[in-house]
Amino acid sequence: MIEKFHATDPMIDVISEDYRMLQLISRFGITLGFGDRTVAETCEKAGVDTPTFLTVVNYIKAGTHVHVGELAQRVCLPDLVRYLKRSHGFFVDYRMPELRRKLLGALDMTRNNQIVSLILKFFDESAQEVAMHMEYEEKHVHEHIRQLLQGRLPAESYYRVLRNRHVSHDSIEKSFSELKDVIMKYYPGEADAHLLNDVLMEVYMLEEDLLSHCQLEDTLLAECVRVLEDEVRERGGNPVDDEPEPTTDEDASEELSAREREVLRRVAMGLSNKEIADKMFISVNTVMTHRRNIARKTGIHAAAGLTIYAIVHGIICVDEVKL
Ligand SMILES: [Fe+2]
Ligand SMILES: [Fe+2]
Repeated sequence: MIEKFHATDPMIDVISEDYRMLQLISRFGITLGFGDRTVAETCEKAGVDTPTFLTVVNYIKAGTHVHVGELAQRVCLPDLVRYLKRSHGFFVDYRMPELRRKLLGALDMTRNNQIVSLILKFFDESAQEVAMHMEYEEKHVHEHIRQLLQGRLPAESYYRVLRNRHVSHDSIEKSFSELKDVIMKYYPGEADAHLLNDVLMEVYMLEEDLLSHCQLEDTLLAECVRVLEDEVRERGGNPVDDEPEPTTDEDASEELSAREREVLRRVAMGLSNKEIADKMFISVNTVMTHRRNIARKTGIHAAAGLTIYAIVHGIICVDEVKL
């Protein structure tokens, strides 16, 4: 994939290039007022993992015809899940209620009450489907991922958890599209045309936004989970916290594992053990076990030395390092 955005680009350029990124950065918890700071500087200030942010913005910019295998390796899964959860909050608590309010304002409530009521009912049913889908994801899909991140292999596979959703991606992708078609084809024209057109334009944007959200879950997230699920299965699916000392082949090897590289990257970012534990959904004990393994494998104990090691080995970009 040709990457449009880089860690050293000013954050303002990302938005100037594609205004859709404005919503995306707020879903990462990044607020406006970033001045001339680069993407890496802005992410670091907001406590956001820069490679994950860049992977998502570049993925969305490139469209969906990208190979996610390589991209998935750069993603910090807890940060990606946090981004998706914030996106759910945006759709359910802001975008859809706001759109309903605008729709109510645009429809002529004094005439054609039956059609107006049906349109509102249609809207509410569509919004409810989306909300149900997202609630399921947070309760079951994200919980499944949280267990994998803790080194536990859940009884049900990820595929089965997805299959058990009552509302599929297909249905939520179609729901607002049908509503929009019904309004355009059958609403008899007493509404304020400018207002109603505004609403329809926003429904188009919502539809596009939902499609992009679902595609990201179907491709990038699914690949990250697949890799993690394989890793956990290979380790025997034992809870990481129940393994105080390295015993598996992976731990015994001299290569840093993916999780050790992740811990090392966060050490180089200047995070404390507690902060690393919170970000990775693991216990402080597990972080310390990883740090012992890292020190043994690299022969370096001090944070400054580990930071240099991380830069030299491409585990962290120099812009992300807290000096
Ligand atoms: Fe979702
Ligand atoms: Fe979804």
